[in-house]
Amino acid sequence: MLSIKKVIASPVARLSVVIAAAFFASANFADNEPLQLAALSSGFNAETTYMASCFACHSTGAAGSPKVGPGNAEAWAPRMEKGLDAVVANAIKGFNAMPPKGLCFNCTDDDLRAVVEYMLASSQ
Ligand code: HEC
Repeated sequence: MLSIKKVIASPVARLSVVIAAAFFASANFADNEPLQLAALSSGFNAETTYMASCFACHSTGAAGSPKVGPGNAEAWAPRMEKGLDAVVANAIKGFNAMPPKGLCFNCTDDDLRAVVEYMLASSQ
């Protein structure tokens, strides 16, 4: 078996260590554009989150909430006239009897957007 000392001593290995070090030293990660991936929480699932946080009100239309489920498209149509972004923003910051974040306090904004999209898709 090769010992670590022998590997480091080999000129090829030493060269690759130098190249790797130079790469990390020259790379300025802070300058990179942020990745444009949706910031969904790990293990996030829109349906599970809906069932846990939103279903209690939105399945029954409690307190005048737009109902979710097949055949409820007309409950959402007038709300969607202001655009998806505005509807998602209301879900995030709260809106009359709609509590901020729908009480899903560990949801990111992107999680909430995905849940709203799920609610809209399942209300067609
Ligand atoms: C305590 C009950 C309650 C819970 C829990 C709740 N909502 Fe609501 N939601 C409401 C009510 C009431 C409204 C209607 C508010 C109004 O139009 O005056 C509403 C409206 C909305 C709207 C429409 C906003 C608009 O611009 O018309 C969205 C989107 C929404 N809720 C998303 C969610 C999501 C996502 C969750 C779960 C993460 C959630 N809600 C949890 C009660 C609730």
